[in-house]
Amino acid sequence: MIVKTPPMGWNSWNTFGGNINEELIKTTADTMADSGLLDAGYEYLVIDDCWALRERDENGRMVPDPAKFPNGMKAVADYVHSKGLKFGMYSCSGVLTCAGYPGSFDHEYIDADTFASWGVDFLKYDYCFRPSLSPGHLLYKKMGNALANCGRDILFSACSWGGHETHKWIKSTGAHMWRSTGDIVDSWASIRDITRHQLEIWDYNGQGCFNDMDMLVVGMNGKGNVGVTGCTYEEYKSHFSIWAFLNSPLMIGCDIRNMSDETKSILTNRDIIAINQDPAARQPYVIEPDAWHADSVLVLAKPLEGGDMAIGFFNLSDNDIGPWFALDSIGLGSATGKALEATELWTGEKVIKKDVFHIPRMAPHTCLVYRAKTIDA
Ligand code: GLA
Repeated sequence: MIVKTPPMGWNSWNTFGGNINEELIKTTADTMADSGLLDAGYEYLVIDDCWALRERDENGRMVPDPAKFPNGMKAVADYVHSKGLKFGMYSCSGVLTCAGYPGSFDHEYIDADTFASWGVDFLKYDYCFRPSLSPGHLLYKKMGNALANCGRDILFSACSWGGHETHKWIKSTGAHMWRSTGDIVDSWASIRDITRHQLEIWDYNGQGCFNDMDMLVVGMNGKGNVGVTGCTYEEYKSHFSIWAFLNSPLMIGCDIRNMSDETKSILTNRDIIAINQDPAARQPYVIEPDAWHADSVLVLAKPLEGGDMAIGFFNLSDNDIGPWFALDSIGLGSATGKALEATELWTGEKVIKKDVFHIPRMAPHTCLVYRAKTIDA
């Protein structure tokens, strides 16, 4: 299984934490299928931690908590599949999950077999309660091997939070995506800090195994398991655009059954999703803006399949700014006789830029995301 574009879906953790059950999963599956999210590309529905009983059964198998999942997990998987979705679950490389349920340490093969028998298509694999003498690369290799031999294609989503230099070994484990950060919370500070940290390790991102900047907080509005202050509409737009630009998996974390039109319009912006799902899956590069704004604004360029270029301005600061850069820095110096025709993907506004790309004013925490093509000047 080769994963060519960042996976997209929904995960239960950000909003629901341990408060999960069959009814929630089914109604979420219905919403994914009926609300346009599946059409927009969100295909994996993932149950995170807290789905199991605290003890394995007499055969050493994990058991779904009957109070939460009275019909077992195969029934849930069948329902999710009947909606045209793929089904994801969660376990941990340690002896316990982060919330204290059984982990897969020393049970990798039997657990992979159980997941395959239920019809699981995606496994998120955490890093809590590791025996201290077991290095991360070995733990993830064990589950990678077990999944590769379980008889079913299961996307392997590693979640060691970037710890122990995960970027240096994760691709040897069979993982298809890897958490490159600690846990996100629903605040602008969290979004900004994850973004800045990501810039240090994005060289490790790419087709086959994508850097996972953690689940989206778009639409949480301060509620739920990782709800803190919440964010504004503009901040959620910037968050979504940055995750898309940096080729992060796009895993929704809000309660989509009650999402507002505003939230839905962000999550289903097809032009932004197309930047994330571009078949070339190239990483963006940083354009150095004028020195005056270098610390406050992140300016990214991402060459797309077919020759278009995505250009993003992200004001990470708390001040108004008016950034600009010379087109020479993306290869379009004045001697080329070329200009850029660019469409801003949130407003549809078209601009033509020659020699210099100047934004007169950007409010704090906002973004401008362009899809541009080269034209004769
Ligand atoms: C860790 C992970 C989270 C979530 C919880 C569940 O903190 O990083 O994404 O899966 O565990 O307990």
